[in-house]
Formats: sequence, C-alpha cells, structure tokens
Amino acid sequence: MSHEHLDKSFETIAIHAGNTADPLTGAVVPPIYQVSTYKQDGVGGLRGGYEYSRSANPTRTALEENLAALEGGVRGLAFASGLAAEDCLLRTLLVPGDHVVIPNDAYGGTFRLFAKVVSRWGVEWSVADTSDPASVRAAVTDRTKAIWVETPSNPLLGITDIAAIAAVAKDAGAKLVVDNTFASPYLQQPLALGADVVVHSLTKYMGGHSDVVGGALVTNSAELGEELAYHQNAMGAVAGPFDSWLVLRGIKTLPVRMDRHSENAGKIAEMLTRHPKVSQVLYPGLPEHPGHEVAAKQMRAFGGMISFRVTGGEQEAVDLCARTKVFTLGESLGGVESLIEHPGRMTHASVAGSALEVPGDLVRLSVGIENVDDLLADLQQALG
Ligand SMILES: Cc1ncc(COP(=O)(O)O)c(C=O)c1O
Repeated sequence: MSHEHLDKSFETIAIHAGNTADPLTGAVVPPIYQVSTYKQDGVGGLRGGYEYSRSANPTRTALEENLAALEGGVRGLAFASGLAAEDCLLRTLLVPGDHVVIPNDAYGGTFRLFAKVVSRWGVEWSVADTSDPASVRAAVTDRTKAIWVETPSNPLLGITDIAAIAAVAKDAGAKLVVDNTFASPYLQQPLALGADVVVHSLTKYMGGHSDVVGGALVTNSAELGEELAYHQNAMGAVAGPFDSWLVLRGIKTLPVRMDRHSENAGKIAEMLTRHPKVSQVLYPGLPEHPGHEVAAKQMRAFGGMISFRVTGGEQEAVDLCARTKVFTLGESLGGVESLIEHPGRMTHASVAGSALEVPGDLVRLSVGIENVDDLLADLQQALG
C-alpha cells in the first residue's frame, strides 16, 4: 500500500496510489505482468511475494492498492466482473439460513444473483425501499447479516441516505454493502459514511472507456478484507493483468471525467424537464427529485446517469432509443461516449414480474463527455 499518498487529495491519489515506479526498470506506469507463475529461488523462496497469478499478480496488486486508497479502505480486491465481486462478497458474508435485505431498485443482474442463484443455497432475502430507513428497519429479521444498497440506483436514480442505513445496519448487527458504481468514489465515499463494504462494477466509470469488464470490493476492515481475499483466491474470478491495467489507466482521469459527466447531465436533465414529450425526469441533481437533499449532502456532484419517462408509452420509448445519432443504443454505462437504452427490454429484462420491475415508458441515458450542445441537439431531434 502506497501510504504516502493517503493524505493527498482525491485527484492525486487517483494517479499515484498503487502506481509506484517499476522496481526493475523505473517505468512510471506499472507494467502488464502477463504471467501465470513465478520462478522460486528454492522451494518456497518467493522473490516478490508472488507465486501464482490467481492468488496475486503485480498489475492487479497495483489496481487493488489504488482502489483501497480511493475508497478510503484498507483492502481492495479486483475481480473479473462486478457480478463476480458480488458473488464473492455474498458467499463470504452469508451462509444458509442467513437473511439479506435488498433494495427495490437495483441493477437487474444483482437482483438475479440474489433471486436465482444465492437463494438456491438457502440464503433468504427481502426487498425494502432503501430510500426510507423505516422500510429497511421493518425488513430486518434476527437472521439479517447484510443490507444491500445501491445509490444512485440503476435505473430509477433513487437515493439512499447511506449514514442513516448504516445506523440501521449497526443496530441489526448486519454489514452494510453499498454498490458505488453510479457515483464512483470521486463523487461519494460510502465507507466514510458508515458502510462496511463498497462494491463496484469497474466496467463503468472506473474503467471509463467501454473497453473492459471488471469488478471490485473495498472494505475498511482488515479482518473482512482477509476473508474476502481468501475467498477471491478460493473462488478464482480474479481480474486479469491487462484488464487491471486498463482500469488503472482509466482511473487516472476519473475526477475530470466525472466532473464533465455531471455537468453535461445537469444540462440535459434540465432540458428534458421542459420537453413536452417527457413526463418525468429522474436525476438527483434536480431540486424536485425526492432524494435531492440527501444526494447533495453525500455526493460531490450528481453524476452522469439520467432516466426519464416519455408521454407516448413503451413503444415511443423503444422507438426513441433507435432515433438518436450521437447517443449509441447499447447496454452498460459510464464510458466517455453517451449511451441510450430501454431498461425494461434491455438491462432490466431479468426483473420483469418482480418487485423491481421498471416502467415500460422509461429510457436511460449514460451521458458522456462529448460537447453538451451536440448531445442536447441529438436528444431534441430524437424526441421530435
Ligand atoms: C450498479 C451496477 N452494479 C453492478 C453491475 C454488475 O457489473 P458487471 O456488469 O461488471 O458484472 C452493474 C452492471 O451493469 C451495475 O450497473
């Protein structure tokens, strides 16, 4: 861990933590250690502490140190995808008979992992409106071991008061998990607000360029960090060296990207609120958003994700997604390029018929860092 960076500001940590010059050559960027195994000087004589790249790899270590520093945690772990990270976390925290509270708005794949996979192993779950601490408190049972929160949430941009739910979790003796994918650690620091573990899909803002799939866990408990690292190795869904390198590279520009994403999204949300074909805009930066005050308290800015409902119903929402020319129709989010999608038929198809079902007239935007005038004009022509 590059402790000398920890008292620096976020932008400096993003560029320097974990990115120590290569001891062999002085290369200022950590090399891609594309290697599976390491020569031992006699049996058990490890040179740099590395023996096999599932257990540890220097490029992944650089990323994991960087992630821990960015979230203000003591241990960061990098995985092959966000869902691989979530799977490792759930199977570390929970055993059969345990109970977990999950949000009524979350990434569809997260819900699927609970409802279709983890539940088969005898873990029980119930759904709560995490924007309301009383709803979470009511869902807690004497077997609750974890409370899961996603804020801002995907795709309804709901806001959860992390500190308030941390208090509920503490009373219940449960761990608070926060999926920080939409905000990124630049905009929001869940561990400082009382969370026990932060989850990321590194695929999104952290990677930032739509060219890598990855996931992360960060915790401020050394003990839990050890347990998670043990399971990471035992389960094996680790981030590869090249993927780790791509994310490490993306993170260096995270603060400047997030500032621009937030600025562009604020202007687009404002335009949408005035558009006659739009019935509702879901963006925490808007004063009328029910979570606006909490978001303003716990986030540095409001991020690049916007959802909105159209007046013409589901077919109009679907058609609109095909009419944009700068916004690319596609799943995922958080890249420099703007994306548009229909959650009901795309990212959230797996929650159809559940408590997490999303409205058919909903459109989700991942606002990129292009010139905002081009983005505004594109949406205006697509809305007609
Ligand atoms: C909020 C959130 N969490 C987790 C995930 C899962 O991450 P991955 O696709 O990297 O497995 C996603 C993916 O869209 C997401 O949006």
